[in-house]
Order: sequence, then structure tokens, then C-alpha cells
Amino acid sequence: MNKGNLRNGNSFGPASAVLEPARSPPPGTCTLFWYPLVVSTPLSYAGTAGYIASPELMQTVNVAVVLARPLLIKGEPGTGKTMLAESIARSLDMRLLTWNIKSTTKAQDGLYVYDTVQRLYDSQFRDHDVRDISQYIRLGKLGQAFTADQRVVLLIDEVDKADLEFPNDLLWELDQMEFHIPETGETIAARHRPVVVITSNAEKELPDAFLRRCVFHYIAFPDPEMMRRIVRVHHPDLQERLLDLALEAFYWLRHVPNVQKKPSTSELVDWVQALASAGVDPAEIERRLPFLGVLLKKDKDVDAVLIAHKTRGMRAAGGR
Ligand SMILES: Nc1ncnc2c1ncn2[C@@H]1O[C@H](COP(=O)(O)OP(=O)(O)OP(=O)(O)O)[C@@H](O)[C@H]1O
Ligand SMILES: [Mg+2]
Repeated sequence: MNKGNLRNGNSFGPASAVLEPARSPPPGTCTLFWYPLVVSTPLSYAGTAGYIASPELMQTVNVAVVLARPLLIKGEPGTGKTMLAESIARSLDMRLLTWNIKSTTKAQDGLYVYDTVQRLYDSQFRDHDVRDISQYIRLGKLGQAFTADQRVVLLIDEVDKADLEFPNDLLWELDQMEFHIPETGETIAARHRPVVVITSNAEKELPDAFLRRCVFHYIAFPDPEMMRRIVRVHHPDLQERLLDLALEAFYWLRHVPNVQKKPSTSELVDWVQALASAGVDPAEIERRLPFLGVLLKKDKDVDAVLIAHKTRGMRAAGGR
């Protein structure tokens, strides 16, 4: 196989990336095997003190940065998709710009808005020269990321909230990293290609053309060991036994049949905080599942869990 080596010196963008024959990476670089290329980049994203990332997630982030492709992150609600962008920004020492997507958001909102109302208003006062339209152009988040004087992380959060046209309408801008403003005749081209992180809760399928341009990672639900590390990040002083029993109850509860809205990482972090701050005796956790409303948000789920819990208690008592 004719492998290449994509090395990129001090910066990450494809403009500076060159294909070289494969050879041992220099010290201080990590090597990511990604058929048919061996991608070497200076050690970069490796999680942060406040965010626990799996090795696969770290690798995918680094690949996306090297390839200068948007990083598309999916995963259950509360599994750290939004927080990942904050962690990348902190780790790479870049500013984070967040574009929160809503059902009404249009691609154009991220580029620029021409404030015609303000211009009309100003035109009624003699002291305002309204001929210079550029003063009424307000850049959106993408525009701000392109014009920033340093490379930034741009989070496009919850892309699946908008209609299906939204991702399609951004293909050109994300590919070429530029857009045109007809009102002023200006073209806004990225001074530094932003690191683009896009999150989705998979409420809608994204178009294939959009997916083709992204590097994808699904944040798998953490196993108990990883979850222990995540909770510890938020509650370093937590009593070990309380954490053990909370984790046990949490994973048991997630496997109760017919629970529709399974609690996630975020709910566990809150639950543990509630247990600790109320001074709950760890033995009580298994006996009566305190503060269930922090974990479960649907009455049917609460009923299903309480029935399963009762049965479990009876089985345990019968087994003694
Ligand atoms: N890997 C992690 N390391 C540290 N904390 C985490 C991690 N994953 C989740 N959390 C905790 O979960 C909370 C929710 O994370 P976040 O808001 O990023 O989830 P999300 O996947 O974006 O959720 P949603 O889909 O609802 O927007 C965080 O505030 C943090 O407390
Ligand atoms: Mg989120």
C-alpha cells in the first residue's frame, strides 16, 4: 500500500499540509492511522482538566483539526457534546464562538444581517451619512469567526434543530470558508480557518452532502469507569462509597425496561450533588432512591422504576 504522511508543521490548515512518504513521526507528535494516510500532528487535543474525553474522541478531534474539516458530534443528550467544544477551545487556547441553532435559524443568520431598519432610521436625521452601507452590516457567528484576528473554535450547536435546508445552505461557506456580501460588494474570507464543531441530537437526518464534508464521532455512553472519572471531575471530594452506590443505582436504573428518557451523564452529576449536599447516607441510595426527580423526568418512567425497585427489593429480601 502506498501510504502517505500528512504533516503540517506548526499550523493545522490544509494550506500548509503536505503529503510525504510515510516515515517515523518526529518526537512530540502523535500518529493517527487513518487509511490510506498516516496523519501526524503536533500533540494537541488531549481533553482538559474539566472534561474527560475517550482516546477515540481525542483522535477524532485531532484528525478534524488536521484535515480542517468540521467535526460532527452526535450522542445522547447530556453526554458532553456542547462541553466538548469548550474543552477544545480551552485546550488549544482559542476563543470559543457559539452559534445556538433554533428551529427558526437560517444559514444567512450566521453570515451577516443587513440592518435596513437602522439605516432607514438614521436617514431621517441629517447628521447621519447613510451612504456607507458597510456600517449597517452585522456579521453573524460564522462571519465573526472568519474575521477574527486569531483562529477560533466555532461551535454550531444543535444543527438538527433547524430545517433540512440549513446544513445544505452552509456547504459552500464551510468548504470555501468565505462568503460574499452583495450589498457592499465585499467578500469575507476566513483569515484563519476556524475549528468548526457541530453537534446534533439526531432529531433529523442530515443531508449526505453535508455529512461528506465532516469528520464524525458518536460519543458512546460512558462505561462505569469513565463515568466515575467524569463525576470526580465535578465532585473531587465525594465520599467513595456514595459514588459507588450512586453509580450502581444509576446503571441499574438505565436498564429498567420501558424507561423512555434514560438519565444521562449530566443528570448523574446533578444527582450526586443532590445526594452529597443533603448528606444522604450511602446505604439509603439503594433502599429508597432519593431525589428520583433529578434523574427521571417522565411520570411513566418514575412508575416503571419504582415498580422495578420494589421487585428488586423483594427479590433481595427473598434471597437472604
Ligand atoms: N466527558 C465529560 N467530562 C466532564 N463532564 C461531562 C462530560 N460529559 C458530560 N459532562 C457533564 O454533563 C453536562 C452536560 O454536558 P453537555 O451540555 O455538553 O451535554 P450535551 O451532550 O451537549 O447535551 P444536550 O444534547 O442536551 O445539549 C456538563 O455540564 C457536564 O457536567
Ligand atoms: Mg448541548
